[in-house]
Amino acid sequence: MLHGPNLNLLGHREPEVYGRDTLEAIDRTLREEAGTLDVELETFQANGEGALVDYVQEAASRVDGFLVNAAALTHTSVALLDALVGVGRPYVEVHLSNIHARESFRRESLLAPRAAGVVVGFGADSYLLGLRGLARQLAARAGN
Ligand code: DQA
Repeated sequence: MLHGPNLNLLGHREPEVYGRDTLEAIDRTLREEAGTLDVELETFQANGEGALVDYVQEAASRVDGFLVNAAALTHTSVALLDALVGVGRPYVEVHLSNIHARESFRRESLLAPRAAGVVVGFGADSYLLGLRGLARQLAARAGN
């Protein structure tokens, strides 16, 4: 699970848009869901584009796929897109808010065209739905 910039502020940051769950609470719920799905999960948050790109490159050898909320970098980062595509692991994009119902600059996602799936607008549930979708895709690819 890759969390992009400013998501460390969740719980306090614009709660009317992003809800009151903290990042720790979201990670905890995700870990529980991962246990139910029988998948292993690791989580990483960074505010910097370079740190996220480094993490994708470094984690790729030990993970089967990525769940990604790239936050503002969703709309700007060719580098993160290239990293995710470059390491050849499927990724699912998630957003707390419905990015299509907000400012026009949030409507475009550079990551979405290459994503295995996209879940937006369900608050913290977007992560759970995204994890479920990713786990099912990975199982299907593995022939399970
Ligand atoms: C976000 C949407 C982005 O546009 C924004 O920059 C974020 C959070 C979301 O989860 O709704 O930081 O990715």
